[in-house]
Amino acid sequence: MCAPAVTDGSIHTMEQRRLGSSDLDVPVLAFGTGTFGGAGPLFGAWGQSNEVEARRLVDICLEAGVTLFDTADAYSGGAAEQILGSALKGRRHKALIATKIGLPNADDDPNAAPAQRLTAALERSLQRLGTDHVDLLQLHAFDARIPPEILLDTLDAFVKAGKARHIGVSNYPSWRLMQSLAITDQGNHSRFCSHQVYYSLIGRGYEAELMPLGIDQQVGALAWSPLGWGRLTGKLKRGAPLPAGSRLHKTSEFAPPVPDELLFGVIDALHCIAEETGRTVPQVAINWLLQRPTVTSVILGARNEAQLRDNLGAAGWTLSHEQMRRLDDASQVLPDYPHTLYWQQGPFRQLNPPPVP
Ligand SMILES: NC(=O)c1ccc[n+]([C@@H]2O[C@H](COP(=O)([O-])OP(=O)(O)OC[C@H]3O[C@@H](n4cnc5c(N)ncnc54)[C@H](OP(=O)(O)O)[C@@H]3O)[C@@H](O)[C@H]2O)c1
Repeated sequence: MCAPAVTDGSIHTMEQRRLGSSDLDVPVLAFGTGTFGGAGPLFGAWGQSNEVEARRLVDICLEAGVTLFDTADAYSGGAAEQILGSALKGRRHKALIATKIGLPNADDDPNAAPAQRLTAALERSLQRLGTDHVDLLQLHAFDARIPPEILLDTLDAFVKAGKARHIGVSNYPSWRLMQSLAITDQGNHSRFCSHQVYYSLIGRGYEAELMPLGIDQQVGALAWSPLGWGRLTGKLKRGAPLPAGSRLHKTSEFAPPVPDELLFGVIDALHCIAEETGRTVPQVAINWLLQRPTVTSVILGARNEAQLRDNLGAAGWTLSHEQMRRLDDASQVLPDYPHTLYWQQGPFRQLNPPPVP
């Protein structure tokens, strides 16, 4: 179950965690392929790994026990899936592939019904990936145009046909996820076992609704943009220009917003704890996520070998309770209503204390 990993010179085994209600164990670190390919206004600006570089990153991941790869049909217009498929050629059995479909796609037939559209999208993904199944099929986003029953029937058919071993969502509002799970439990559909969520020290909105839902309903979280869309890397400095070569030059308008005061407060705390622990800023930021309830796996973003090797050193050790508390304090923001009532000290909080790791 545990694969040996060599990262920052020390040897440890890559911890595995059960993915929500499924029977699938996944490594606590996954690798995101958003940087593969490099085309298109949003995803192309993440950085560009060609086939040779991508293969090298996949090699390093597999050696380190990072066997879960996240991709999407939307990344670089499908090129990311194609590059991942080619990097895994001949060793597909060593990897778990999670892909995402459901965002508007240039190849969609505008006249197709939702079930046909999703079926065609999955077939294209399988073809690009060079495989007959994915281990986790995720809906990239909540599509209010598709009734949940139709969606669940369609996904269930994919599972029964063996084309998707498990199903999950991404960026779903909690009410819709809960509604879908309730429909599933009344019938005999395959159940969403995971959700891919934006969760980082500068984006803790996940905690208010989706985290308690995950605990209650056994939905595992795969955390995307663990470095806050590339901002918790140790390269950003208060009052200084953006680091040279960083994707932030191109994608800052897409980055989940964060006030400067919060961002630099978190960065200061990260630097301090990195110094204390002898770890790097990204390693500390990712390790914090690994200690949070419901987080099954953190999806690493790295556009070169040095970044990947650094980030692999985020697992295999733990921040102390005191360091976790300092990071919690530095990153805490007042949640929206009704959670505000339960967050402040007082009778409401006694009724519903926040989850603790
Ligand atoms: N479901 C969704 O809607 C969704 C959305 C976004 C992402 N994702 C998934 O999550 C994955 C990761 O997202 P992300 O790339 O935004 O993650 P991230 O960890 O927030 O940012 C990664 C970026 O930070 C910089 N970086 C990473 N490690 C570093 C290190 N050790 N030292 C210095 N700089 C470092 C690199 O950018 P620079 O070198 O350019 O600074 C890298 O591209 C994606 O590949 C994708 O699979 C999913």
